[in-house]
Amino acid sequence: MTNRFSAQRFIERIGALSGELGREVIVLDEVDSTSSELRRRLKKGARPDTVVVAHRQLRGRGRVGRVWHSSIEGNLCFSTALRIGGPTDETVPLLPLAAGLAAREAAAETGAEVFLKWPNDLLIQNRKVAGILCETVTLKKKEALAVVGLGVNIADVSFSEDIARTAISLNKVIEKEADISFLAARFTVCLERLNRLISEGARREIPDAWRKAAEPFGRRVQVGDITGKTVDLAPDGRLIVQDDAGNNILIAGGIVESLG
Ligand code: BTN
Repeated sequence: MTNRFSAQRFIERIGALSGELGREVIVLDEVDSTSSELRRRLKKGARPDTVVVAHRQLRGRGRVGRVWHSSIEGNLCFSTALRIGGPTDETVPLLPLAAGLAAREAAAETGAEVFLKWPNDLLIQNRKVAGILCETVTLKKKEALAVVGLGVNIADVSFSEDIARTAISLNKVIEKEADISFLAARFTVCLERLNRLISEGARREIPDAWRKAAEPFGRRVQVGDITGKTVDLAPDGRLIVQDDAGNNILIAGGIVESLG
């Protein structure tokens, strides 16, 4: 069955893509949030290459305190840890963009046409198919890790009323059902490659690649109390929005709502 995550298929696929053989994979039927679970495990000493996957989340968390709906099986709820290398003020802001690029590469492997919306939502036909939550965890030995949580709507089921007009499922738009384990493996390998690039100092590559994968700039948006249009991505990963008075504002966080 391809629409249920399998640790064995995930590990085999990671091996095929990167040659890497060992990894700690925790698969749970149900959890509050895979990212919360991974944070708890890392604080108790879990290996930094641990990933946590759940068939269902009861309290899936989104960016800026939002809820991520994931109580139905057949979707990907996945969290992985990353070692943060290099000066954190330069590297950490690029991780969400790198995670978006990795998720896009994984989703595109299924044949879907996917665009990125700042900072790392995945859009198909202008609707959200996946979201990413990047958080940092500081451990007792002062080692800083990032926990990157990826949620992908895969199963072609009806969404709850509050997101029915803005969400879409991957299986709705592709011919053959997506393989959840392969999708997660491709995401992991790509994210680790980009994280290595960031740590080694190749930081221009991430915003450059992101720009090419993003929905077109010029879209009318609202971010908090700012309304205007998206202009570009700044080299440090912030979004440039030109407000209605003509000022360019750098957006570092919050939710960018499309106004049409
Ligand atoms: C967003 O779009 O605001 C981010 C959504 C991130 C959801 C994923 S699902 C796996 C991981 N566990 C969570 O609780 N959240 C992330």
